[in-house]
Amino acid sequence: MTDRPAGVTLLGATGSIGRSTLRVVARHPDRFRIVALTAARRAESLDELARDVEPDFVVLAHGRPEEFDPEWTGEWRYGSDELAAAAAGVEAGIVVNALVGFAGLKSTLSALQSGRRLALANKESLVAGGELVLEAWRSGGGELVPVDSEHSAIHQCLVGRPTEEVSKLVLTASGGPFRSLPADQFQFIRPEDALAHPTWSMGDKITVDSATLANKALEVIEAHLLFGVPYDRIDVVVHPPSIVHSFVEFRDGSTIAQMGHPSMEIPILYALAAPERLPNEFRSFDPIADGPLEFEPVREVEFPMFGLGVAAGRAGGTQPAVYNAANEVAVRAFLDHELSFGGIAAVVETVLTEMDPRPVGSLADVEAADLEARARARETARCVS
Ligand SMILES: NC(=O)c1ccc[n+]([C@@H]2O[C@H](COP(=O)([O-])OP(=O)(O)OC[C@H]3O[C@@H](n4cnc5c(N)ncnc54)[C@H](OP(=O)(O)O)[C@@H]3O)[C@@H](O)[C@H]2O)c1
Repeated sequence: MTDRPAGVTLLGATGSIGRSTLRVVARHPDRFRIVALTAARRAESLDELARDVEPDFVVLAHGRPEEFDPEWTGEWRYGSDELAAAAAGVEAGIVVNALVGFAGLKSTLSALQSGRRLALANKESLVAGGELVLEAWRSGGGELVPVDSEHSAIHQCLVGRPTEEVSKLVLTASGGPFRSLPADQFQFIRPEDALAHPTWSMGDKITVDSATLANKALEVIEAHLLFGVPYDRIDVVVHPPSIVHSFVEFRDGSTIAQMGHPSMEIPILYALAAPERLPNEFRSFDPIADGPLEFEPVREVEFPMFGLGVAAGRAGGTQPAVYNAANEVAVRAFLDHELSFGGIAAVVETVLTEMDPRPVGSLADVEAADLEARARARETARCVS
């Protein structure tokens, strides 16, 4: 037990993970104190959260609404550069990166370079930054604890055992809303269908990624980077109830799984407090009431975003960043009714084919690949229906 509550900088406070984090922190005021909150554009929501939480400061990354007169009279900072500065701030022992997309990369690097504990929800930053993020983790001496439920599960199952003892990681996937949809029905999928996730309530981008299984490909890359396990020893299995969050199979024949109800508050609490386990108010898994625990294979042909992503991870270099950038653009176009559901994979495949993998030596290399992939994806999306 520490004397003072640990300072928490919460990047992406107005989002789904951000609000879950605030609920978790509110239950443990003796352990955690919010130092900073950030949002992209939703100034009113940020103002409301700040009045409730009383942080040291808030950051609005994009825009400075002229009409807006905040009720919270504390310090307001503006501009996306302030995000990475907040992630390195001296008062924060813990940085929760709940930003969405590539926009979170500089903050991930900054938190790790400053030796903070990074509770990482923003998987896109790890996928795109790859070795750069791992180097920042090694050299900064901080901690990286995943928030994604699958990686939190693996972290908990491994309890520090070395990679040599692991024969396989098995990530579970809910399968999303189209898990059993016949292939000939995919052409009729609308954004509102894709946003209706059966088990998890999340932000729009990750909800669409869950429907295409791009999210699972990003998670395979994330698992490879976080745990150092080769791609051919990482499997994915569909598990619709989302109770078993992942398995670790050890070389002695034992398989250890982590289970829990599908609420992100459980892995968030773990990421804030690990290895300590703090009390939580959730009902735990009941093997009779919550069974049976079904598993199915991934339908890779119907969900090409899965294979494309894993192949990009295997190719390495800038390819994961290219996959991520093209996906971000295609998902936006789909949500804006400018691209079909099937068009997402068509755009991403075209961009990956057009761009050869390049080595990553610096942040500039990743940023250049991200920028080029976005431009190509926008162009391709205009031609693909
Ligand atoms: N939601 C889940 O259950 C879940 C589970 C596992 C992993 N994750 C991962 O966690 C991350 C966050 O997901 P989410 O579902 O919480 O997303 P979300 O609900 O869309 O929230 C995103 C947050 O980031 C801010 N933001 C968005 N774009 C930004 C930008 N360019 N610059 C600065 N701030 C920006 C948003 O601010 P505004 O409100 O102002 O737009 C909001 O606070 C994603 O990487 C996702 O893959 C989420």
